[in-house]
Amino acid sequence: MTTQASPDRRIQLLFPVALASLLILGTARIILDSLKNNRSQFLWQESEKHRVVRLPINISGDEIIPEGCNIFEGQWVWDNVSFPLYTEESCSYLVKQVTCQRNGRPDSNYKNWRWQPNACKLPRFNALKLLEILRGKRLMFVGDSIQRGMFDSMVCLVQSVIPEGKKSLQRIPPRKIFTAEEYDASIEYYWAPFIVESNSDHATNHTVKRRQVNLDSISKHGREWEGVDILVFESYVWWMYKPLINATYGSAQSVQEFNVTTAYRLALETWANWIETSVNPRNQKLFFMTMSPTHLWSWEWEPGSDGNCFNESHPIERPYWGTGSNLDILRIVREVLKQVKIDVTLLNITQLSEFRKDAHTSIYGERKGKLLTKEQRSDPQTYADCIHWCLPGVPDTWNQILYAHLIQDYRIL
Ligand SMILES: *[C@@H]1O[C@H](CO)[C@@H](O)[C@H](O)[C@H]1NC(C)=O
Ligand SMILES: *[C@@H]1O[C@H](CO)[C@@H](O)[C@H](O)[C@H]1NC(C)=O
Ligand SMILES: *[C@@H]1O[C@H](CO)[C@@H](O)[C@H](O)[C@H]1NC(C)=O
Ligand SMILES: *[C@@H]1O[C@H](CO)[C@@H](O)[C@H](O)[C@H]1NC(C)=O
Ligand SMILES: *[C@@H]1O[C@H](CO)[C@@H](O)[C@H](O)[C@H]1NC(C)=O
Ligand SMILES: *[C@@H]1O[C@H](CO)[C@@H](O)[C@H](O)[C@H]1NC(C)=O
Ligand SMILES: *[C@@H]1O[C@H](CO)[C@@H](O)[C@H](O)[C@H]1NC(C)=O
Ligand SMILES: *[C@@H]1O[C@H](CO)[C@@H](O)[C@H](O)[C@H]1NC(C)=O
Repeated sequence: MTTQASPDRRIQLLFPVALASLLILGTARIILDSLKNNRSQFLWQESEKHRVVRLPINISGDEIIPEGCNIFEGQWVWDNVSFPLYTEESCSYLVKQVTCQRNGRPDSNYKNWRWQPNACKLPRFNALKLLEILRGKRLMFVGDSIQRGMFDSMVCLVQSVIPEGKKSLQRIPPRKIFTAEEYDASIEYYWAPFIVESNSDHATNHTVKRRQVNLDSISKHGREWEGVDILVFESYVWWMYKPLINATYGSAQSVQEFNVTTAYRLALETWANWIETSVNPRNQKLFFMTMSPTHLWSWEWEPGSDGNCFNESHPIERPYWGTGSNLDILRIVREVLKQVKIDVTLLNITQLSEFRKDAHTSIYGERKGKLLTKEQRSDPQTYADCIHWCLPGVPDTWNQILYAHLIQDYRIL
């Protein structure tokens, strides 16, 4: 029993488990590279054109989130009538990494839980309304593979209402771009595991062990984010390899070891400066998602046990916070967002996801771009992925929350 793992040990442990799946982009085919320039030009022009005309949407009374309702406080309730919002079969865009059922997961209850805030109801996800909001716009998720899961989820949530031939998915590393042609809309993913620049930025060939972060460099990424109408940022697990991280700050030549919390704060400040100089709050919206929790040590929710998320089939139903979700990092996020002069909405999903020890890909995902072998599956202690999530699953709820924010923002007043 490892009840007394030291904080340092935890930080070290977090990453190796993540490693395997973080590398998954390595298998993504690099296709359509020649379209890169044409495509981005096209998107730019389109969003310029439409920016002037904002198309508000009509939402009904029960879709309005009353002031005073904290949608992040609540509980998971069993709802096998409305959930899941789509199936593995109905969304051909899902990658093997997340299709847990197809990969052999025997239980499926993890798909049937609905997040119920204490003081109000979350609006039901309506793909047509979201597409109306996204008309002529770009929605971009920026971050690591957790964000890629959220992107995949969003694509699945909207794609079913778009006819064949009017939708497409392109991989143009470091981006993935889903296009809804009739709406001139795109939902995109941008690989930037530290948000700021680093030597792990190559989408398919990133160094993992000898990572080095450039805490004050963001302009290369920033150029790709400029003008994007709705940006959703996230970055956490890549920082959590060791208590110290190699980084540059001030001088690009001088690499130093930084305390991870110090480094994270400097990186977020760099990002905040970028926002203040490059974002136009009148027609761009920003979100920052708090860390996605991990469930690497079952003794945390079941004292005396010595496993991980493997074989967990039920959410935690009492107050719970795992040690993998670093409170210093959360405090830094809150402080930096408070100081930044442009409105950034916090998607405070950590606590609600903490309850979902049952919803990770576990042994029903991929490692280094391949499904686990039989031998690996028989050793969940080593091979279970308790960081990433099955789809349909928890990231759908994050998107439902993002959607709830967006319909409030774009509604007819
Ligand atoms: C990209 O645009 C150039 C010139 O604008 C054109 O020659 C080329 O064929 C285009 N490539 C694709 C893949 O559409
Ligand atoms: C909004 O919807 C309500 C009820 O569905 C309808 O009565 C109203 O006319 C609509 N308003 C606009 C501006 O479309
Ligand atoms: C996030 O929500 C939780 C409740 O779910 C709350 O306790 C916490 O203070 C919130 N964090 C921030 C940064 O707002
Ligand atoms: C939904 O859940 C209820 C209660 O657990 C169960 O009785 C019912 O058979 C389930 N329905 C489906 C379609 O799975
Ligand atoms: C990946 O990157 C490393 C270091 O930059 C380089 O040596 C190697 O050739 C690259 N591999 C591929 C397949 O591009
Ligand atoms: C930083 O880089 C040096 C030189 O490559 C290496 O010896 C050291 O272990 C690295 N530190 C961390 C925290 O990774
Ligand atoms: C890193 O900084 C935090 C906050 O200042 C501190 O609590 C922690 O002990 C430091 N860790 C190391 C390894 O120096
Ligand atoms: C999974 O958990 C159940 C009890 O919930 C137990 O009966 C079963 O043996 C476990 N399976 C494995 C492979 O550990």
